[in-house]
Amino acid sequence: MIMSNSLHGGDTSRAAREYGLSERDIIDFSASINPLGPASGVYRAIEEELWRIRHYPDPDCGELPLLLSEHLGVKRENLLLGNGGAELIYILPRALKIQRALVLAPTFSEYAQAVQAAGGRVQYLVVDGSDPALLAEKAANHLLGCDAVFLCNPNNPTGHLLDLPALFPLLEAAKAAGSVVVVDEAFMDFVPGREKFSLMSLACTRPGLVALYSMTKFFGIPGLRLGAAVAGPETIDRLKRLKDPWSVNTLARVAGEAALKDKKHMEDTLRTVLEERSYLFSELLSIPGIKPLPSAANFLLVDISGTGLAPGSLVEKMGRRGILARNCSNFHGLEIPCIRLAVRNRAENQTLLRVLESVIR
Ligand SMILES: Cc1ncc(COP(=O)(O)O)c(C=O)c1O
Repeated sequence: MIMSNSLHGGDTSRAAREYGLSERDIIDFSASINPLGPASGVYRAIEEELWRIRHYPDPDCGELPLLLSEHLGVKRENLLLGNGGAELIYILPRALKIQRALVLAPTFSEYAQAVQAAGGRVQYLVVDGSDPALLAEKAANHLLGCDAVFLCNPNNPTGHLLDLPALFPLLEAAKAAGSVVVVDEAFMDFVPGREKFSLMSLACTRPGLVALYSMTKFFGIPGLRLGAAVAGPETIDRLKRLKDPWSVNTLARVAGEAALKDKKHMEDTLRTVLEERSYLFSELLSIPGIKPLPSAANFLLVDISGTGLAPGSLVEKMGRRGILARNCSNFHGLEIPCIRLAVRNRAENQTLLRVLESVIR
């Protein structure tokens, strides 16, 4: 039986069950998480603070807002922490009363799910992010009647990165159309020189612009759930009113604080991901039938049309050998057969390459 593949990557327990493997023997390339794992201080902080779980979490999240605001270069009052970026994605359409949203596809599916779950409608616009200026122009021309446009930068699953010269005209067009711009920067920590691409600080002062952030990928703590929204105080207030006050639990909070204090781990992470991404990219290029696409994030979208295999079948064959890849067939607007591979450490990347080659040949 071909594994139906989860809606998202990272479902290692289900893969272990379906492929008859132990979860510990699986290398997960389907979720794009820091290959170094969390900083060692994160584990220590959790152990030391474990006694706190008998109490409610601090609704103000201790030192975390201050540390995160410094990391992102924004003020504390412009920041709202949540149970992963996903919690805030789901609150947004209700908080901002989004009835009709433009979603630039292919992209992360939860924007559309969240809008629909709040009773709104989604209009997809399939765009080619390899030309940021063209993408922005095309999006600007489709804003009429939309209360909001969702962008992901860098984009999941393509890895395309939009720069500020492309984004500014789109912001202006959205302002003229009365649409809110929601920019999800879940993978921006993997981009060196982020100030040329990030709208975080602008989101604090510009009405109609909301930025989303995730701590789960770069800091390697997806199991703990930690994310944020950045916006002007009025939008933050609206979001806060719909949020469970304790959604950031104590262990996530202390883990986030420890993670943000370890600058060395952040530097090591960035260096490793950049080195390994370029290694993986060039090695993948040499495998017949597959074509990795250039990416600004910690994953590569890989066109597998030359293999003659469907993504689900390739993912299953790799999965049986303990390598989880993301089947991209359920990304709206992605016409070519693709898988998405996270960038992991050298030994794991080599295992992936060996398995991929043997499955394809
Ligand atoms: C683009 C994007 N945004 C947000 C999220 C959700 O992140 P979190 O784990 O912080 O909820 C994901 C998760 O894969 C993602 O790919």
